[in-house]
Amino acid sequence: MVSWAEPNGWRSDEARGRGQVTRNPLRCEIEWNQPARASVEFHRRLPGYEPTVLLDAPGLARVLGVGKVLVKAETSRFGMPSFKILGASWAVYRALTARLGIGGDSLVDLDDLRAQLAPLKPLTLVAATDGNHGHAVARMANLLGLGCRILVPNGVGASRIGAIRSEGAEVVEIRGTYDDAVRQAAQLADARNIVVSDTSWQGYEAIPADVIDGYSTILVEVDEVLEGSGIGRPDIVVAPVGVGALMSSVVSNLRSHGQSVTIVGVEPEEANCLQASTCAGRIVDVPGPHPSIMVGLNCGTPSPLAWERVAKGVDWFVSVGDDMAMEAMRGLADVGLAVGETGAAALAGFMAISDDESWRDAMGDLSDSTILLLVTEGVTDPDAYRSIVGRSPAEVHASAAVSKVGWDPGMSRPVLEEQTNKEP
Ligand SMILES: Cc1ncc(COP(=O)(O)O)c(C=O)c1O
Repeated sequence: MVSWAEPNGWRSDEARGRGQVTRNPLRCEIEWNQPARASVEFHRRLPGYEPTVLLDAPGLARVLGVGKVLVKAETSRFGMPSFKILGASWAVYRALTARLGIGGDSLVDLDDLRAQLAPLKPLTLVAATDGNHGHAVARMANLLGLGCRILVPNGVGASRIGAIRSEGAEVVEIRGTYDDAVRQAAQLADARNIVVSDTSWQGYEAIPADVIDGYSTILVEVDEVLEGSGIGRPDIVVAPVGVGALMSSVVSNLRSHGQSVTIVGVEPEEANCLQASTCAGRIVDVPGPHPSIMVGLNCGTPSPLAWERVAKGVDWFVSVGDDMAMEAMRGLADVGLAVGETGAAALAGFMAISDDESWRDAMGDLSDSTILLLVTEGVTDPDAYRSIVGRSPAEVHASAAVSKVGWDPGMSRPVLEEQTNKEP
């Protein structure tokens, strides 16, 4: 096994310099309003809530030549293998309480909400997905006793589809891309079908705005741990980008602090819709097919709602090929983190951007800098994982060389549970 302690030992020369790096020409300072954070309390009150871990990975820092690498590991949220339930749960809750005419600041717990929904039934939640968002919407429908129809594009693997079906949802496989699935889902909206989309379109903004607000929980948890740990706020934050909803939340949470931080967005090279749009100065489509193994990021059109903040708040974009994602998976495995293709994108992006001359000239010496990587998903396909990494997720966990931030280092131990899309 190549050790992370050997500088650059794990990086293959073939993948070097492969990423396409752009400095965002639209970046500007605006009045960054505090993001809505009511979702944080909502999540804390949900059964099974636990903050995800923030990990310190010194082996990664050594290899990347930076002071510190922190990993926010969204590999298990409410027993699901990604962060998406944070947005879906809050958006579903808000849509249903709005239909019931329940207003005000006080939160209704899920059992009470379920009981109050009876007069609205039959009611179905509808979503388009390339996996995680649909799984999360299906989980909410299951918890609330509602029907659920999930539209998936070509290329979504059997394990992801199985996870959605395991929640009792109907899965409709459509011919076309994720963006085609979004268009078809939008047409199903009526009095008995609530479309819960993480991307917006004209006249459909309230639910995608709540999805974005739901992701604040991730950033609030990071802040809370860092405040108590003596580690300062990160200098660079790297996050993966699909339609841009997660990144919109990252931008508004970080920028509204007024903190000086460099934000980097990572996309697959065939689905780099935010990178292409910022370079064009307006929203553009990147037509499919979008075949990347970073399935959660295979989106050809930015969310117009997310675009407003992402276009102004992200500093750099980098688009990477699947070879980089696989290399990042192996790198994360070497510090004991079993992370799938999409989840590894932030590390892949940082590896790619740090090879780029314009980035290096602009950023200078990073040997004292703290980098925060948002790892947004665990392992969703254990067979594919083993063929890429050469070990099973369980074998990888057994070799963990990370510590949970805020812990006594003497207590370091493997902290990630094996995550698959198996029925929890
Ligand atoms: C695991 C994972 N990471 C990142 C993203 C990107 O999020 P967004 O589409 O909000 O940009 C997704 C989207 O589905 C995802 O599933």
